[in-house]
Amino acid sequence: MVTPSVIRPCAPAELPALVALLDQEFIFSKDRRISLARRLPGVVHADNCANILLACHGETIAACVVIKRFDWIAPERSWRAAMIGLVWTNAAERGLGLATQLLRAAQARLHADGAAFAVLFTAQPAFYRRLGWISADCGLYGSYAGAGGDAARCTPVDANAIEAMRSRQSGAYLRRDRASYDALPLPSERLEMRSSIGSAAYSIYGVQADRAYVYELGGEASGRAALWQDICAAAATVHINERRGSASAQWLSTIPGTIWRDQALAMWLPLAEPDCARHFGDWYVPYLDRI
Ligand SMILES: CC(C)(COP(=O)(O)OP(=O)(O)OC[C@H]1O[C@@H](n2cnc3c(N)ncnc32)[C@H](O)[C@@H]1OP(=O)(O)O)[C@@H](O)C(=O)NCCC(=O)NCCS
Repeated sequence: MVTPSVIRPCAPAELPALVALLDQEFIFSKDRRISLARRLPGVVHADNCANILLACHGETIAACVVIKRFDWIAPERSWRAAMIGLVWTNAAERGLGLATQLLRAAQARLHADGAAFAVLFTAQPAFYRRLGWISADCGLYGSYAGAGGDAARCTPVDANAIEAMRSRQSGAYLRRDRASYDALPLPSERLEMRSSIGSAAYSIYGVQADRAYVYELGGEASGRAALWQDICAAAATVHINERRGSASAQWLSTIPGTIWRDQALAMWLPLAEPDCARHFGDWYVPYLDRI
């Protein structure tokens, strides 16, 4: 007989076992490398265990959802919000309603805590739509196969300097702590943060083999050409994550040979402040911040 499942937060002592299960599903079975504990250091961490919900049979972990809480800073006001990710059910117990129960529990908990909205990123929107999640994504994905060439001597830049440049930009953004800059989005195996000489502009990009993944090209326009030259020098193919209509997306669209497509990964759930739903189509969460 199967023991009924109990939904509860993950205990810090259970985290290594959970990480092993999630790594198997999301990393190693897909021929990727580097554990989620390293990739999402502020999220898959003992300090965030209260936000990791498990469905368990006794001590056996059957399913989980991971929550990342964040402040969303819009020009007119700030919001308390949450991101949901690493939704997983043990293969032998799929289709029994465990992920649905966990998502409902997460939703109720966030609503009760006053989170204005939640967001997640998925290639399986139908699963979340049943639970009230709304698709709205202003993201663009570009692929540029003509990379190469010489580097432009942009210099490494630290998290504080980037955070200062981000705070001066217009539009809504997610405030980052130090651990946010230690994230390593899939499938990158190394993260680079560069600043252009003589200009308050920065890039954040990941590298995996001969591919670069641009997560952000921010700050002053005058620095973009040097930052882009450096990214191209690191790879044969450059994949670009951008917000439709942003100044950097407009600049990148002038580079010949880049193939662009609209993204359809972001899904949103209005919670304690349903009014914020009117913004979902305009809000963009950069790749570095996602789980
Ligand atoms: C997706 C996943 C979490 C679902 O877990 P689960 O516990 O089986 O889900 P539930 O039993 O609560 O829900 C199953 C329902 O969702 C539906 N469903 C499952 N996967 C779906 C998908 N990809 N698209 C649409 N519906 C889906 C099922 O048809 C079922 O519907 P029904 O209740 O009308 O019969 C599980 O399949 C999993 O761990 N997959 C691998 C990891 C993954 O892809 N995670 C999602 C990352 S965004």
